[in-house]
Amino acid sequence: MPNQVDMTVNLAGMVMKNPVCVASGTYGFGREYGQFYDLSEIGGICAKGLTLHRREGNPAPRIAETPMGILNSVGLQNPGVDAFIEHELPYLRQFDVKVIANISGNTPEEYGIMCEKLAEAGVDMIEVNISCPNVKAGGLAYGTRPELAAEVTREAKAHAGPVPVMVKLSPNVTDITDIAKAVADAGADALSLINTLRGMRIDVNTNRPVLKMNTGGLSGPAVLPVAVRMVWEVAQAVNLPILGMGGVSKGEDAAQLMLAGATAVAVGTAMFADPFAPIAVRDGLADIAQRKGLTAVAQLTGAVQPW
Ligand SMILES: Cc1cc2nc3c(=O)[nH]c(=O)nc-3n(C[C@H](O)[C@H](O)[C@H](O)COP(=O)(O)O)c2cc1C
Repeated sequence: MPNQVDMTVNLAGMVMKNPVCVASGTYGFGREYGQFYDLSEIGGICAKGLTLHRREGNPAPRIAETPMGILNSVGLQNPGVDAFIEHELPYLRQFDVKVIANISGNTPEEYGIMCEKLAEAGVDMIEVNISCPNVKAGGLAYGTRPELAAEVTREAKAHAGPVPVMVKLSPNVTDITDIAKAVADAGADALSLINTLRGMRIDVNTNRPVLKMNTGGLSGPAVLPVAVRMVWEVAQAVNLPILGMGGVSKGEDAAQLMLAGATAVAVGTAMFADPFAPIAVRDGLADIAQRKGLTAVAQLTGAVQPW
């Protein structure tokens, strides 16, 4: 029987044909995956994190396997925002898919400049990564202090024109709802969560950390329960749509994030093992919604019934 479920979702005014996005930094700018399938199958592409100027990223090794996930310390290797607009955006625009640019800045001003350029270039949404160090505040990550997170959000909103601004929250905090509330008050249109959890792995033969940067960000199936818990907490704390991510590799994982309160979901690390994972997640979600007798997948959002 053909699937009758309406798969469209509306994330802060951005309508996607299905709720499945791909997570920033795990999909490049889509070119490699475009060899496997039509990128129009995906709801939205969160492009690789951009900085104002090109970056080489951190020294290798910068990826390490862990039980149920990976650690990475890629360090925002990217060609810079101008090269994205000139070379990568036109490629992505060939497809019927929403393009979400992901940005990181050293200062609030850098976020503003990038937002202006990207809004003029006509991306569908800007995802503001606040899990990066603020050079002016002595390297403290924006995402760990409500006032810094709010400052970046205000700067992004002031320069993004009509393009919705989604702020990506770090899980490396005591209470993620404090940051979520600060960002919401500062005018964010949507929230995405979670970014990676800081971790470390040590080679017991050499006594050296496996990653050259010593520590890295943990992602993959191991982090799913943390992501579900944080989406649930944030959904209760603020009235903003949420793009949920962290360890999604199948429809059931995505459904958990939606039940917890996410409007849409993103698949990341799972694609390193299976490039088709976002398509499997989409189909799995549709099956779950149909099995539940829903007419629209959006009816999953926030439908958890806590004890
Ligand atoms: C190799 C790698 C690079 C990433 N780069 C970025 C990035 O540039 N910007 C960003 O906001 N998040 C970045 N992330 C975080 C992911 O977008 C996502 O939030 C996280 O990996 C959790 O989802 P997952 O478990 O499905 O991978 C990166 C993750 C990985 C594994």
